[in-house]
Amino acid sequence: MFRQDFAWGVASSAYQIEGRDKEDGCGKNIWDTFTEEGRVYENQNAYVSCDEIHRYKEDFALMRLLGIRAYRFSLSWARILPEGTGKVNEKAIALYRDMILEMKKNGITPYITLYHWEFPQALQDRGGWLNEDVIGWFGEYAKVVAENFSDLCEYFFTLNEPQCFVGLGHLSGVHAPGKKMEIKETFQIAHNALRAHGQAVINLRKYAKQEIKIGYAPTCGVAYPATDSKEDIEAAKKVYFGFYNPIDNWTWNVAWFSDPVFLGSYPKEGLEKYKEYLPKITKEDMELIHQPIDFMGQNIYNGYPVRAGADGEPEFVSREPGFAKTAANWPVTPGAFYWGVRFLSERYHLPLYITENGMSCHDNVSRDGRVHDPNRIQFLDEYLSALCRANDDGADVRGYFLWTFLDNFEWDKGYNERFGIVYVDFATQKRIVKDSAYWYQKVIESNGKEL
Ligand code: NOJ
Repeated sequence: MFRQDFAWGVASSAYQIEGRDKEDGCGKNIWDTFTEEGRVYENQNAYVSCDEIHRYKEDFALMRLLGIRAYRFSLSWARILPEGTGKVNEKAIALYRDMILEMKKNGITPYITLYHWEFPQALQDRGGWLNEDVIGWFGEYAKVVAENFSDLCEYFFTLNEPQCFVGLGHLSGVHAPGKKMEIKETFQIAHNALRAHGQAVINLRKYAKQEIKIGYAPTCGVAYPATDSKEDIEAAKKVYFGFYNPIDNWTWNVAWFSDPVFLGSYPKEGLEKYKEYLPKITKEDMELIHQPIDFMGQNIYNGYPVRAGADGEPEFVSREPGFAKTAANWPVTPGAFYWGVRFLSERYHLPLYITENGMSCHDNVSRDGRVHDPNRIQFLDEYLSALCRANDDGADVRGYFLWTFLDNFEWDKGYNERFGIVYVDFATQKRIVKDSAYWYQKVIESNGKEL
């Protein structure tokens, strides 16, 4: 049984839905540059996207109709601080304040994410996440956020998926800023990002106008046990928090990005394995990163099965031919949800929000004018049932943010992936509620009783 005050929500990010307005005073960010360079699917960009800056009133009203109670959304750093630091764009403050007020009018609790990947271009030009000044820059941004929104909002997340913006942005280069850096540099970037997180927590609390609660939203692929045997469970856990990735894909890691934040130290195994690549890490750095935090967030989409081999060492199990996949070719693995939540709770002992989960489907408008997405319903049913079971088995699960409300700009994939429970016709901006949204509405109404 979920708690009575369980946060049944949806999640989004600024860049993926907002769009722009010539008069909005918004600064340029790295995704503007990346799209202008034509590095996104079919040369697409997000200058209109869901046109959310003009349509949030209708969209929040629709959320209300569907019974959605919580909304995790992000603020655009360069909209608020066009140069990344310094002068504040008052139009952005007014816009976001109005958005939050509108949410609340519709009975929706706001959860703000500070950074969901759209780094200000002006600061990128000064070295971006690689420049240690980023700790101060991000701290300043957090201060502005606290001063301007903490009277209206109680819940904050600092960074979204650092694994991705470090790895996809700076190692493989498929996301903005599209860099393929030396491995050593990417460790410096990760360390800077973690310190920036710490500085943001300090400043959010220092400048907040009421008592606020702060979390962090990393991601992971979950190693989950192939069977329920004790040996397989131990093997999966070892991989989940371990270091089995090839070095040129090292950022896809859980413990490296979470242990410092929640436990105050980098994992020993990683320090040993990565020693030739590491930047200088001081006691003060670790204190800065390890700020008191109220809950953990975790984005979980899928995982991979692991078992104990004959020698007791973990073995990766191949998937059966024809296993279920999403339109993005991601495996459908509800077991990952159950075990991911359990493993995280056992290691970090913190209340947990699922900050993202969902699937992309080949959604299309049917002849009856509706969008039928039975695969998504099945996916959500299986994943939410797994979450419910993890909760019943002792994990302290506080909320679930479905990714996402509206179909939107899926980064390098442009509009080619539809993750929404509400269909968006990008030519007309018409919204069509998909079957899965009505299904989710019923789940929320019953507080998940029928799962
Ligand atoms: C993770 C990211 O946080 C979000 O921006 C993205 O759209 C979803 N996952 C789906 O890929």
